[in-house]
Amino acid sequence: MSKVLSCLSVRCALLKGKSCRSSGAGCQKSFVQYSPTSAPEMPRCNFQPEEYKGMSKEQMIDIRKRNCNPMIMKVTYYKKPVFIHQGYMQWLWDVDGKRYLDLFAGVATVSVGHCHPKVTAATEQQLKKLWHTTNIYVYPPLHEYCEKLASYLPDPLKVIYFTNSGSEANDLAMLMARLHTGNYDIITFRGSYHGGSPQAMGLTSNAIYKYPIANGLGCTTTMCPDVFRGPWGGSHCRDSPVQTTRECSCSHGHCVANEQYIEQLKETLATSVPSRIAAFFGEPIQGVGGSVQYPKNYLKEAYKLVREKGGICIADEVQTGFGRTGSHFWGFQGHDVVPDMVTMAKGIGNGFPLGAVVTTPEIAASFTKGVHFNTFGGNPVACAVASSVLDAIQEDGTQQISLEVGTYLLTELAKLRDKYEIVGDVRGKGLQIGVEMVKDKVSRAPLSPEGMNEIFEDIKDMGVLIGKGGLYGQTFRIQPPMCITKEDADFFLAIFNQSLYNYMERR
Ligand SMILES: Cc1ncc(COP(=O)(O)O)c(C=O)c1O
Repeated sequence: MSKVLSCLSVRCALLKGKSCRSSGAGCQKSFVQYSPTSAPEMPRCNFQPEEYKGMSKEQMIDIRKRNCNPMIMKVTYYKKPVFIHQGYMQWLWDVDGKRYLDLFAGVATVSVGHCHPKVTAATEQQLKKLWHTTNIYVYPPLHEYCEKLASYLPDPLKVIYFTNSGSEANDLAMLMARLHTGNYDIITFRGSYHGGSPQAMGLTSNAIYKYPIANGLGCTTTMCPDVFRGPWGGSHCRDSPVQTTRECSCSHGHCVANEQYIEQLKETLATSVPSRIAAFFGEPIQGVGGSVQYPKNYLKEAYKLVREKGGICIADEVQTGFGRTGSHFWGFQGHDVVPDMVTMAKGIGNGFPLGAVVTTPEIAASFTKGVHFNTFGGNPVACAVASSVLDAIQEDGTQQISLEVGTYLLTELAKLRDKYEIVGDVRGKGLQIGVEMVKDKVSRAPLSPEGMNEIFEDIKDMGVLIGKGGLYGQTFRIQPPMCITKEDADFFLAIFNQSLYNYMERR
């Protein structure tokens, strides 16, 4: 605890100079102190960005429309887009010099902070030495990083394959699971996102990310054990400081919702796949799905059922890894399970393109019949970056920050849930947080896309960037760089409170 506080105050002192109040009483200030019509001041930041002198905003939009992949126009997040110019730690600046508190981290990717000085220095050093040579040669950064990353995983997860993205890691995991087991079928949760490559698209279970091609061969979904939106859920199902507002009469250690969702998995195994399967893929907490958490013992029981059918269990830690959930370094550890394979990307490189699959020597041995080659996977620069990310996680105490600031955010957000009819659920762990928005608390029907967009745009205009997710785009996602402070959290809470107030006034 004292380490956290000292870490927060060091971080704060670094960013805000002597005016920092986050280690004192000022840091404990609650959002409720702000009147709903006066936006609070953004926490101070001493970093001075460069003046932007590049092409105009109009020019960029024009090029975006004419020459860029049309999909990026489709996913441009805001009605009035944000033109990002520079970043430092939890802050982003637009081309006009306006500063934003970044609580989405480029989709849960910038793990230790934008342009983190230590990571930038390590990258520069490696860039001057050696950019690229494939792993047909032996070079130190690959071996140093492999050993370091392996030390973060429990036995027998010690064999590492590098890729360049999460989709690629999941493709490789599917291939290895099938070769190792001799089986073909793979089960995932409805509502999950595991990537957009033709193979990973089969794992992904959300219509907007699907195309009408033969993509899901051998992939079957089972009901997502979502204790808020699903048919079952109660008042102490999930491993989070905040529970749903649903009531239940389960006694301690007994969860009816869990039993029901496990029955659904049993039914899937009995009806939709052959008697032997290759794998089960699951995120410890869904990311794109909207920070959905399962009942506490679900994964433990699911892993047992899957292994009885000959399948291996794969944890997709693309979003939950590297300390984001606060209580543990890996999300699966919070479920008290050890997977047979772990896939990771995003936060592993703090924004540098890198992914990995980590598995057991036994499974790796089944994958040696052919040659698996990846030109860039584990390239010297990627390894140097990722190695310094692990160092920054340790030195900055980011896992503790996730736990401390994340728990604070969750408990304060729960107060907003109790205050506003349209805030249906607050959930998550550490800095993997979801706020599910509803039309009203009784129906739990998703808030309309228009309503979501209004609130979202308002939050951005007041200086905070957050994300959206969920099957119907109904969940706000808060997954910031893990260097944010309680003062930043208070600022966001006040802004969120005000945006909800504004929306309710208009409604
Ligand atoms: C859980 C999860 N798995 C896999 C992926 C795919 O990663 P990438 O976009 O790097 O291919 C994502 C991307 O959002 C993800 O959230």
